Amino acid sequence: MNKISLKFGLWFLGAMLILEMSLFFFLHTSIVDSRIEEELAALQARGNSHRDVLEDSYKEETFHHIAVMEAKADTEVIITDQNQNIIITSSKFDNEEQKIITKEIGKVPRDGEIMENRWKSEKYISTITPFKINQNQKGYVYMFRSTDQIQSLISRLNHHFITGAIMILTLIIITILFLSKALTKPLIRMKLATEKLSKGDFSVNLPDMGDDELGELSRSIKILAEDLKHLKEERNEFLASISHELRTPLTYIKGYADVSRRKDIDETIRDQYLSIIFEETKKLSDMMKDLFDLAKLDKNTFVIDRMEVELCSFLNSICEKMLPAFTEKGMELAVECKKNVNVLIDPMRFEQVIFNLLDNAIKYSEPHAKTSISVKRDKGMVLLIIKDEGRGIPKGDLPYIFDRFYRVDKSRSRDTGGSGLGLSIVKELLEAHEGTIEIKSEQGKGTAFFISLKELP
Ligand SMILES: Nc1ncnc2c1ncn2[C@@H]1O[C@H](COP(=O)(O)OP(=O)(O)OP(=O)(O)O)[C@@H](O)[C@H]1O
Ligand SMILES: [Mg+2]
Repeated sequence: MNKISLKFGLWFLGAMLILEMSLFFFLHTSIVDSRIEEELAALQARGNSHRDVLEDSYKEETFHHIAVMEAKADTEVIITDQNQNIIITSSKFDNEEQKIITKEIGKVPRDGEIMENRWKSEKYISTITPFKINQNQKGYVYMFRSTDQIQSLISRLNHHFITGAIMILTLIIITILFLSKALTKPLIRMKLATEKLSKGDFSVNLPDMGDDELGELSRSIKILAEDLKHLKEERNEFLASISHELRTPLTYIKGYADVSRRKDIDETIRDQYLSIIFEETKKLSDMMKDLFDLAKLDKNTFVIDRMEVELCSFLNSICEKMLPAFTEKGMELAVECKKNVNVLIDPMRFEQVIFNLLDNAIKYSEPHAKTSISVKRDKGMVLLIIKDEGRGIPKGDLPYIFDRFYRVDKSRSRDTGGSGLGLSIVKELLEAHEGTIEIKSEQGKGTAFFISLKELP
């Protein structure tokens, strides 16, 4: 038997025992009490009927008649005069009876009273009935009944009670065994299931346990198992793509470094190779930083330090910084924002968002294309639109564009070689700002990103 059902069983057994014992005790005492009362009443009634006979015909013959009658019954009679001197007894009387008939008595009611009722300790229970002849007190009828009989009656009763108690107890124990099994079995199954989970086996197979708390618990465990399974798969996928991503630049670095080592190589070509190695290393370290950021965002350890910022001047200062990169490629960048728009953002993180989007606009546009940033307000929200005239994104790729490592150009050629992390960082950063991002794009025409944020009043 397992611990929980043992605990449950013992508690239940304890409660049942207390209940059963108090019930039996109450029943036993009330049966015994009423039994003794009955006996005493019967004894008194018998004494009263002897009195009636005596009062009807007060003569010696009657005394004998009563004595003979009692000698044949379970009861005994002693008739005394009014000074408690014995006139006649139905059998040999003993010390115990003597004690009772010499007890001092006051005025006894006509229907008699009880002289002795302590059936446990005394040899007899007894009653007394007075009788009168011609209105004068003449004597007393003492009735006795041996307590031996009562005691054997009670012991028979006890015997019944004990057999009953044992039977009920056995029944209770059997019920507890079944009940605790039925109650604890699902719990134990769930315990085993979670143990399996913790060992990394997510194939949890729990039966439907109904609508109660146990059923809810089992459903939660199943959901947990599915989530864990999903997480594990996602992690494996993620690790696979990371290793894939790292391999590409590393292959370049290894290859170019190997060629550069050769003595017979031209200095200018060696310089060219070294700068490729430098670029690839830079790319790698950027990617490492991005991955680290994403990991922090996932774990929610990424602290967003928000403050009130005027969006237009904030955007203008970023664009000023980015402008050289645009002009270098012969592109244009315009900011359209004049109003006083206040938002609650982390300036450093939000700069990262804008930077990633503008970086994409440069990377995925041809020279002379225009890029614009505009700000609109709508019902307490601020809408930030970043629009380019670049190559656009095919419709089929749009749903995945915010996924980690997702790139439209799967070839990962060196010149367009981003890692595909930029947009996933943008999305997570915006979610941390309680903002949203949406994308509209047409292949060959351009792309627009719509960021919406809450405006500060
Ligand atoms: N403005 C854009 N125009 C056209 N295609 C885009 C644009 N922005 C993103 N994309 C496509 O979406 C893909 C994912 O963009 P994302 O910024 O996440 O990665 P990346 O630019 O390739 O690499 P990283 O930003 O990590 O250096 C890009 O590879 C590109 O194919
Ligand atoms: Mg990018």
